[in-house]
Amino acid sequence: AGYGMIKVETRGKVGLITLDRPAALNALCDQLMTELGQALRAFDTEAAVGAIVLTGSEKAFAAGADIKEMKDRTYPAVHFEDFIGNKWETVLTIKKPVIAAVAGFALGGGCELAMMCDIIIAAETAKFGQPEIRLGIIPGAGGSQRLIRAVGKSKAMDMILTGRMMDAAEAERSNLVTRVVPAESLVEEALKMGEAIAAFSQPSVAMAKEAVNAAHELSLKEGVRLERRLFHSLFATEDQKEGMSAFAEKRKPAFRNA
Ligand code: HXC
Repeated sequence: AGYGMIKVETRGKVGLITLDRPAALNALCDQLMTELGQALRAFDTEAAVGAIVLTGSEKAFAAGADIKEMKDRTYPAVHFEDFIGNKWETVLTIKKPVIAAVAGFALGGGCELAMMCDIIIAAETAKFGQPEIRLGIIPGAGGSQRLIRAVGKSKAMDMILTGRMMDAAEAERSNLVTRVVPAESLVEEALKMGEAIAAFSQPSVAMAKEAVNAAHELSLKEGVRLERRLFHSLFATEDQKEGMSAFAEKRKPAFRNA
């Protein structure tokens, strides 16, 4: 409610957030990131929503952090306000799966925002890049750490040191995105994926997401230990009983997120 730079709607069990700052190709200014954080948190606590889709326009998912807003900031200012850290990482705190549906430019902070989501689906028109080097800076929202985990060192260095863009086909080949779809069906396909996820038991979905994301942070042994703990804990849910009983009784499960 009352958002100026994003549009927010619910489609079935999926929360849809559309970045909507067309005059600046969805450049991620302070206001936009504040609104995005509020919308993500609102969907995360809305019981009827089981997954979230984040998208932009046909021309741009987001062309980066807002360069004009950043250009006069000083070192002490960005340091003490924790520029990026204090607003951008809300998406990492969301428990429900967040699917980035990317068409057009996903550059700099736009690419980093997509990589903070759990899954990226790309339109054939998508172009990913970390062009910060051209501005005399480097990625600041995790790009240097997340891109290498997705595509490996050589390609991550290539992207970050040359600032070149990668098209959708290369992004799929490089495992940056799960799949590429025609631009006109991008949002529909992302919503379909969201709906499929939202049909499952929310506790199991949240724990699956947590376990997979933890693989980037933990050793294999600690990661497996976490997975085992989360796995065991699901036996405390009614939905585990329902899911397994339904299988044994040859019927569809009716999950209650309990
Ligand atoms: C502010 C931006 C912007 C940005 C585009 N615009 N990107 N404004 N910040 N990141 C504005 C333009 O100034 C222009 O405004 C309008 O959007 C349309 O853009 P054009 O350049 O005219 O469009 P086009 O010729 O189609 O070129 C598209 C483009 C180019 C290739 C994507 O806009 C571009 O190179 N943008 C910057 C990409 C970039 O460097 N991103 C990284 C930012 S740094 P006017 O008013 O002139 O019409 C970053 C740091 C991350 O993200 C660190 C932590 C998050």
